[in-house]
Amino acid sequence: MNDNFTDEEKKGFYKAIYSRRDVRSHFTSEPISDNTLTKILHAAHHAPSVGFSQPWNFVLIKDNNTKKIIKESFQIEHRHASELVDEKRKSDYLSFKLEGIMESPINICVTYDPTKFGPFVIGRTSIPEAGMYSVCCAIQNLWLAARTEGIGLGWVSILSNDVLKRQLGLPEHVIPVAYLCLGHVSNFETKPDLERAGWLPRLELKDVVYYEKWEQKEDSNWKKIEQLIKTNLDTLK
Ligand SMILES: Cc1cc2nc3c(=O)[nH]c(=O)nc-3n(C[C@H](O)[C@H](O)[C@H](O)COP(=O)(O)O)c2cc1C
Repeated sequence: MNDNFTDEEKKGFYKAIYSRRDVRSHFTSEPISDNTLTKILHAAHHAPSVGFSQPWNFVLIKDNNTKKIIKESFQIEHRHASELVDEKRKSDYLSFKLEGIMESPINICVTYDPTKFGPFVIGRTSIPEAGMYSVCCAIQNLWLAARTEGIGLGWVSILSNDVLKRQLGLPEHVIPVAYLCLGHVSNFETKPDLERAGWLPRLELKDVVYYEKWEQKEDSNWKKIEQLIKTNLDTLK
């Protein structure tokens, strides 16, 4: 059986990747159906994980009291962060909307449990962080599945993990990795908010690829890809 992707399927896959956005505004009042949320969580749960340890849990939150407490933590951490921004950029920084905790109908805390199937996990012996990386793979699946279902998602990391742990009753050994805000949105921007605001540009692919060694920008064995990487993506078939 040929289970390769058809051209249409490939298009859909890349569409999810390129049109995914971090969303903090534009949430509408339309609720996320339980079917859709379940599909999104299934997709997250099918991420790769070191030694198949599946070290994630998803704490689903819609309780307004919890959201309020998390929002307060955001406000405190946001204030601290603003003190670190240099004066010239401070007003820009303060103008950004960096969370949608209350406006989004569903919040999800994705956690890392290093004890699941442990202590011996295949592949985690030399690089313990591989467990955390696995959780990030699940988050990316969740994010892309949400986009595919027309659901906006914003990741809020301007938070105190201590507050999160206390409020959600996480055991000491469980680490919150991501606090995500999900909801239907009126639109998805075509570019990241921080790019549109001129805060940072998207780097060019050619500036992030090295050949064989760190910072080596050319190599005779990589000539063709060196050129392709500089061309417009649309010219690639
Ligand atoms: C680990 C992580 C933490 C993030 N934390 C925040 C956050 O606290 N607030 C926020 O507004 N965006 C946050 N973002 C979203 C990034 O700002 C966003 O991904 C980036 O600007 C690129 O935009 P895009 O996701 O729309 O492509 C976070 C993203 C990641 C991957």
